[in-house]
Amino acid sequence: MSNGNTKALQGVRVLDMTHVQSGPSATQILGWLGADVVKVEAPGGDITRRQLRDLPDVDSLYFTMLNCNKRSVTLNMKSDRGKEIFTELVRRSDIMVENFGPGAVDRMGFTWERLQEINPRLIYASIKGFGPGRYADYKAYEVIAQAMGGSMSTTGFEDGPPLATGAQIGDSGTGIHTVAGILAALYQREATGRGQRVQVAMQHAVLNLCRVKLRDQQRLTHGALAEYPNEDFGDEVPRSGNASGGGQPGWAVRCAPGGPNDYIYVIVQPPGWAPIAKLIGRPELAEDPEWATPEARLPKLDKMFQLIEEWSIRQSKSHALAELNALGVPCGPILSTRELIEDTSLAENEMIVDVDHPERGTFKTVGSPLKLSDSPVDVVRSPLLGEHNQEIYAELGLTPEDVTGLKTDGVI
Ligand code: COA
Repeated sequence: MSNGNTKALQGVRVLDMTHVQSGPSATQILGWLGADVVKVEAPGGDITRRQLRDLPDVDSLYFTMLNCNKRSVTLNMKSDRGKEIFTELVRRSDIMVENFGPGAVDRMGFTWERLQEINPRLIYASIKGFGPGRYADYKAYEVIAQAMGGSMSTTGFEDGPPLATGAQIGDSGTGIHTVAGILAALYQREATGRGQRVQVAMQHAVLNLCRVKLRDQQRLTHGALAEYPNEDFGDEVPRSGNASGGGQPGWAVRCAPGGPNDYIYVIVQPPGWAPIAKLIGRPELAEDPEWATPEARLPKLDKMFQLIEEWSIRQSKSHALAELNALGVPCGPILSTRELIEDTSLAENEMIVDVDHPERGTFKTVGSPLKLSDSPVDVVRSPLLGEHNQEIYAELGLTPEDVTGLKTDGVI
């Protein structure tokens, strides 16, 4: 039975000390799940409010697309009064999340020991670039995590340089891992009554997502990786272009009219070959012993995908999608960002949503990929800087005059 008015994390209070992308992506998910997320920003605000602006003097899309479903307060953590107010905020929170550079929260005077003294039920989640050890003090950004987590060395073509992927696996990928840790800690608290520390390193999250490449690294010791398009193998997993990486071969083949994203990714499962052979106008290859079995095709996958491309280059990718799916062949057209933002099925799924913002007008954002039957997500616009100062500081017992004074004194 649906309980229409509540949300999964209703009543859970999150003290959101995050900035840039990795941390905000995590707390935005907590907000979508119904938690009360209070974003604490230095009086100057999260730097991304001003980065990559498309409109003058208006919070950037960088900020607005990562900070929905949150309230905003400003607080100067380097002032004594700021630290006192922060202590009150910690006392009333279930979860604190931060992704400052290494040691920043300790330098503010809030070590894990101190935070536990203030609130033993607090779950304290931190995102850093790296775990303890030789990289621990280093700062990190998205592509650094991709570089050091196994993604860049395995992305791209054999004869080209390592490449970054457009998917933000280092930042938002780490954010998702962090949410999993936080929710588990929240659940364990039910039994123990205690909060705990949750630490996630961006390098570790990317490595977790590159698990299959570490599988292949170990397979390499027993010989060449037959499903890779590469001919020569050294002692490291090579970049393998658009090879599927799984047990079933796949490749991106070109489609009409030949634009930069006119490609379709096709996977040839064993039962798919005969219908594909027929579709591409080569029915004789279905029975030909040189082509009929996966083993026969394995040494000439490049030639196989060439044959498929001789057909696909004459189809639009949407036509190829329909034709291949009619035969039960797994495939996917390469969708551009424009096609995605205009995709009606994604809009119907609330994955592309319109949000009204008082300063920028309507903007589009990506909705929640988590669909819970009893906890539907309503995407609520990101807060303006300090928009909820009066409201939240009143919850701490401060009067409007107190709040005005804090502003004058540079505390908020
Ligand atoms: N009031 C006063 N000062 C504040 C504050 C507040 N509310 N919030 C933050 N600050 C201060 C901190 O105390 C710190 O000062 P300190 O270095 O004097 O102690 C400073 O602002 C923040 O430092 P830092 O987070 O290191 O910022 P940066 O711009 O130098 O580095 C990153 C940015 C992203 C590289 C760094 O935060 C980092 O490595 N984070 C962890 C990994 C990560 O999440 N990276 C991905 C980002 S998408």
